[in-house]
Amino acid sequence: MKKLFVKTYGCQMNVYDSERMKDVLWPTGYMPTDALEDADMVILNTCHIREKASEKVFSELGRLRKLKDRAADQQNRQMLIAVAGCVAQAEGDEITRRAPWVDMVVGPQAYHRLPELVAKADPVSRLSVVDTEFPTEVKFDFLPEEAAPRGPAAFLSVQEGCDKFCSFCVVPYTRGAEFSRPAEQVIIEAKRLVKAGTREITLLGQNVNAWHGVSSDGAVWGLGRLIRELAEIDGLSRLRYTTSHPLDMDDDLMRAHRDVPQLMPYLHLPVQAGSDRILKAMNRRHTADDYRRIIDRLRSFNPSLALSGDFIVGFPGETDRDFANTIKLVADIGYASAYSFKYSPRPGTPAAGDDLQIDEKVKGDRLAALQQLLDSQQMAFNKTFEGQKMDVLIDKKGGRVSQVTGRSPFMQSVYLEGGKTNVGQIVTVTVKQSRQHSLLAEIADLPEKVKPEESVA
Ligand code: 5AD
Ligand code: SF4
Repeated sequence: MKKLFVKTYGCQMNVYDSERMKDVLWPTGYMPTDALEDADMVILNTCHIREKASEKVFSELGRLRKLKDRAADQQNRQMLIAVAGCVAQAEGDEITRRAPWVDMVVGPQAYHRLPELVAKADPVSRLSVVDTEFPTEVKFDFLPEEAAPRGPAAFLSVQEGCDKFCSFCVVPYTRGAEFSRPAEQVIIEAKRLVKAGTREITLLGQNVNAWHGVSSDGAVWGLGRLIRELAEIDGLSRLRYTTSHPLDMDDDLMRAHRDVPQLMPYLHLPVQAGSDRILKAMNRRHTADDYRRIIDRLRSFNPSLALSGDFIVGFPGETDRDFANTIKLVADIGYASAYSFKYSPRPGTPAAGDDLQIDEKVKGDRLAALQQLLDSQQMAFNKTFEGQKMDVLIDKKGGRVSQVTGRSPFMQSVYLEGGKTNVGQIVTVTVKQSRQHSLLAEIADLPEKVKPEESVA
């Protein structure tokens, strides 16, 4: 058996893809390892969304070169290096030019072909094999059914690519056109995950709520319908989906937040900015008030729904007044958590060529102000749970022997001291203390299903 080390950057879809790459390579004799130094193959699964994310890849490749040389010189061992993901797609040639010790470059839609690439790669000749085509075949049809268990909370890609072309974003270029997996295929994969012990599934897509599929009865389903069907799977206790675009938030999906108890009361719905002028320049195709109306409707269906979002500050042409509208929108909505970024010009995207780029210092000041508000909202949100009971899915042992960690319905990390629990259980806890990014809790009740003698400390 050879050893495979995969390092993942960026979004949750990359986390899913990395697991699938391991599945693809497993039958060819590569076993996953956590020890980079011993690896016979290293895959960097990369992210191109912002400049910093891409630069990290090149510095990591510098470090890998040394490891590769050391393996060859001291152990007479070959270490294959592969770059996968969105940097591979966008900068394949740049990678082989700047880092000729890379053996393979493979785009996000071509990684089912990794075994063929490995067979072609010849580390001695140091010629890189590049596969950044958008293949005519769909990778999901070629990924193996056999997969390693994913643990209590797992990702499942249902949709990929994007046709929205926001003017700042590389995704339509790196991941390609919008594609939805057939409903049957998704349901089969979900059942397989649950059979292997998964209790919570997060459906993934760059534009997940644009998912649509023809079902076995010939009807076209939207994501709301898919969620209703998945909720029927015995043993699947929790469902989530991410990331969504406001335009694709249809009524059936919104109603699912009222009707489907397994659908967790937490939604990541990026708005990016609160100024209509900037939203237009971003080609978002909705206004700030459109977004407010969607949130109002969602909350009318489920008042406890917690919200998360993405924000970009310093988009070209953003004035103080535009930025004030972002702050106003955040204050109006109230977020449980959020991600915010300085605008980063990405090669090949329309906004990168705009003359009205914003000064880095101004971007930094706006980001700090926005984050201060978002942090205070998160802190206040977490505080509302102090003294309250909630259900937590135990997903791993914590840092200390007596500690376990889990996820709340609202995506908070929960630390539990003592008590008897197993990874994969859903337990009711009482929240003792809230923090910026987590909750501390103790077990209130063990679930009826779990008999004490089955539990371990
Ligand atoms: N600059 C800054 N942030 C960006 N994002 C996407 N492209 C850029 C960019 N060029 C952010 C958006 C998106 C999230 C995944 O990353 O907020 O929702
Ligand atoms: Fe990028 Fe999302 Fe806009 Fe698509 S909808 S272009 S993935 S920000």
